[in-house]
Amino acid sequence: MAGKIPREFIDELLLRVDIVDLIDLHVPLKKAGNSFKARCPFHTEKSPSFSVNRNKQFYHCFGCGVGGNAISFLMEFSHLDFVEAIEDLARFVGIKVPREAGQYQSNKQDYSDLYLILERVAIFYVEQLRHHVQGNKAIEYLKSRGLSGEIAKQFSLGYAPDDWSILASKFDVELLINAGMVVAKDNGGRYDRFRGRLVFPIRDKRNRIIGFGGRVLDDSMPKYLNSPETAIFSKGKELYGLFELLEKQSKPERIIIVEGYMDVLALAQFGIHYSVAALGTATSKNHLDLLFRFTSEIVFCFDGDTAGQNATWKAVQESFPCLKDGRQIRIMLLPDGQDPDCLVREEGVTGFEKRLHDSQMLSDYFIEFLAQELNLATLEGQSQIISRAKPHVEKIPNGIFREKMITKLNELSDSTGLDVLSIQATIDREITSNTAAFQIKPIKPEHVVLALLIQNPEMAEIIEEFVDKWDEISFNTKNGLLAVLDGIETNQPKNTGSLLEAYRGDTEKHEWLTGLANMEVIPSDNDDFDTKEAFVGALKRVIELGKKRYINELLEKI
Ligand code: UTP
Ligand code: MN
Repeated sequence: MAGKIPREFIDELLLRVDIVDLIDLHVPLKKAGNSFKARCPFHTEKSPSFSVNRNKQFYHCFGCGVGGNAISFLMEFSHLDFVEAIEDLARFVGIKVPREAGQYQSNKQDYSDLYLILERVAIFYVEQLRHHVQGNKAIEYLKSRGLSGEIAKQFSLGYAPDDWSILASKFDVELLINAGMVVAKDNGGRYDRFRGRLVFPIRDKRNRIIGFGGRVLDDSMPKYLNSPETAIFSKGKELYGLFELLEKQSKPERIIIVEGYMDVLALAQFGIHYSVAALGTATSKNHLDLLFRFTSEIVFCFDGDTAGQNATWKAVQESFPCLKDGRQIRIMLLPDGQDPDCLVREEGVTGFEKRLHDSQMLSDYFIEFLAQELNLATLEGQSQIISRAKPHVEKIPNGIFREKMITKLNELSDSTGLDVLSIQATIDREITSNTAAFQIKPIKPEHVVLALLIQNPEMAEIIEEFVDKWDEISFNTKNGLLAVLDGIETNQPKNTGSLLEAYRGDTEKHEWLTGLANMEVIPSDNDDFDTKEAFVGALKRVIELGKKRYINELLEKI
């Protein structure tokens, strides 16, 4: 059982980690003045406006406005929740996350021993590929499939020797059984699941190995074998190649879903690093929701055979509930008998990308599919297509896409002029955009004070000299200052990143303070800027303005 993570540990962790090293691992940084810069991983840009500051232990993008500490970075970049981010950060620093016993017990079990054994098995299989007497056969096979050593390395391909108990002789058998690597028969028999196969480790989005796929090296059956469902492996939720893809690009423009391991590998070898494969199961809504966390466009690219066509239609049906505005799905149908692996080898990247570019939009595919064998010139055909479409369209979340789809279908049955498909489409027309955040406003002195205080918590000492003079400053400013001063006093943060952490539980305040932490008061290219002087200047101005306002109010009353 895993309990709550102690607050002190989180503070300690933030002190141990250096945000520059952490981010540099994912987004190579260049030193620029007293901070580090890169092109922002959270939006597309040509010139670098993403900046990481070692003293503040804080990152910020002047282009899109994101910002936060090391924990926020991992949450955003690796799409983790808070606890996952803490765990990964602890792993990065090389310490274990302690858990408080007591009333905060969560139901989450600790499967770290399963992850660990699979990691060790994966390393073992990689070694077997290189050093086992049979490993050579697997290497020859990889070569015959035209796969490079580089790809084999990137995806940690390995070889499971043709042996019934080689794993059991090396690792804990109970763990191997729980991890799905050893099959346990009712009669007590036990044997290695993968034998004489090329193996593909399957990772989750956090780079933990959760299972394997294995392919025979000849024509024997079954061609592929996959790990069974275990406590940490659920085929309907995981996708092969996702981690490797995210390593290359945290926010890809699109992700292609293909059928097989070999398709992912071949595409990656040709520089198309944005494909994943469902693990011998149908594409599920879970898969799509997972992918839509990283991209706004998904392309279905299944084999050009009947099975592939059926899989496409099934996947399209699954996708309707996921089609919120801003997301889109395209369908890339392949010629008869082709799969992405063959196709990219035959037509090269240019050919493949051209097909990708020309691929069908989901709405067109959907209507074409439904219209099969219908005569839309007849009333019968028109009413048929509407009744076929209705159950699917009803699943689309409210929004512009749903409305357009309904309009388009109604147009197909224009003869009656009636809205046959009158599914309620309530659209929240209020456009919530981030544009407000980018508007340049003159910075008020009270914001300068607050921002500089958050960016340099040590300035808190200076304020004390002024406390007896600030009675007249406005209520809001005073409250804001007191909230931040209180945070500094209780947490004694060493930098901005640590200070912000104290407010994470209070979303409103956390956002407000992050905004101020991001405010560029000090020109980022100016090393000589005297922060203390600026802070005192702004503070005096706030007090002065407060006095003026106070006097004016008094005068008005008189
Ligand atoms: P394919 O047979 O299309 O795979 O199955 P492929 O990549 O084209 O195979 P080769 O190596 O080039 O001949 C697609 C996926 O279906 C699952 C696997 O996940 C495979 O990658 N599958 C296939 C199985 O689980 N078991 C099988 O016996 C066959
Ligand atoms: Mn195939």
